[in-house]
Amino acid sequence: MRTQVGIIGAGPAGLLLSRLLALQGIDSVVVENRSREYVEARIRAGILEQNTVDVLTEAGMGERLHREGLEHRGIHLQYPGTRHTLDFPELCGRRVWVYGQTEVVKDLIAAQLAGGPPLHFDVTDVAIEDVDTDSPRIRFTDADGTPQVLECDVVAGTDGFHGPSRAVVAEGAAGQRLWERTYPYAWLGILADAAPATDELIYAWHPDGFALYSMRSPSVSRLYLQVDPGERIEDWSDDRIWEGLATRFAHEGWEISTGTVTEKSILPMRSFVSAPMRRGRLFLAGDAAHIVPPTGAKGLNLAVADVVLLSRALVRLLQDKETDLADAYSDTALRRVWRATHFSWWMTSMLHTTGDPFDAELQLSQLRRVCSSEAAARELAENYTGLPY
Ligand code: FAD
Ligand code: PHB
Repeated sequence: MRTQVGIIGAGPAGLLLSRLLALQGIDSVVVENRSREYVEARIRAGILEQNTVDVLTEAGMGERLHREGLEHRGIHLQYPGTRHTLDFPELCGRRVWVYGQTEVVKDLIAAQLAGGPPLHFDVTDVAIEDVDTDSPRIRFTDADGTPQVLECDVVAGTDGFHGPSRAVVAEGAAGQRLWERTYPYAWLGILADAAPATDELIYAWHPDGFALYSMRSPSVSRLYLQVDPGERIEDWSDDRIWEGLATRFAHEGWEISTGTVTEKSILPMRSFVSAPMRRGRLFLAGDAAHIVPPTGAKGLNLAVADVVLLSRALVRLLQDKETDLADAYSDTALRRVWRATHFSWWMTSMLHTTGDPFDAELQLSQLRRVCSSEAAARELAENYTGLPY
């Protein structure tokens, strides 16, 4: 097989890259080691920046998003005695959307399978070769067990944190560096058939730990509790989870709405950046190159921002034979990655209790500041809704 861009991984980054390239007349092939069902059911992010919505809409992926997505104009920040609303359009003229990553992925897969570039699920033994030449290749075994060789002009490593691409970059890129921060907490997340008891997401600081009230639709809530990374999900009955949530979101005159829990899991929190995001003809995008803790709702949006840059760079490289955008890709992408990494760290540090009373007073002081100063609120709003590309 031969293609211009071989794409490893059918997460939001790989699927959107394939779509954006196809719209520019560049062909690609996507290989994914999981099944379509698995990829479409994997519950992850829920908040789309305005930039992400614009990109998806321009890529012809906005129809269901505009019909079913929930437009949000702010968030509530809560600490004992206070639930304060930040109004994003007033603060920075932008807004965000609730539309699950699962839905974005379903839309992209449906479009791709309806006449888009080839997309192979359930592949195994993916290996990347000759990335330091102009003709790299991907070897894999397809779903029928047949070994395949995909000859490419460029390989895109959009295979997430656990995929093989980053290691290939690390083996050969000059000046390769890694930065990592493991946070001493995790999130216990549930999905529940319960109408959200809030108009906007609630980010709550509480002496017992952080809690986040999010949603997926008018009848489905997504809720998170800060827990110790050593906690086991088996020790958290639904009753214990609802009690923890009710305590942490408690606010005068307000009640949580409960319902059947349809999914629950514990997610580790880490921050990670790998640079450069390129070796020769292999380019990394999304979680393959960087991870942020979810408190700033940036992971998916950052993957989309990478792919927008990368698609432009590849069109220029493969159509105009100009290397300038490809050469600038890593440095340009990393500027946004570090901004999002800082914002995610800042939100995480402000909202997660550490057990240290000095930290708690600093956090409460910072929260009071954001809830009383327009300048401080605007700084949060601009970052949360996404800085313009
Ligand atoms: P991924 O979505 O990870 O896609 C990578 C794809 O590559 C996957 O489909 C994977 O199966 C495939 N792959 C891996 N190895 C191979 C291989 N060898 N061969 C072929 N394919 C391979 N962000 C938020 O903003 N809010 C959240 O609440 C949130 N929750 C999250 C919960 C979890 C458990 C995780 C892991 C992430 C979460 N994120 C969240 C982050 C967000 O989901 C990611 O930033 C986003 O998925 C990045 O997209 P991606 O396409 O780069 O990577
Ligand atoms: C989610 O809905 O899953 C979600 C929302 C906001 C975040 C993180 C996760 O900051």
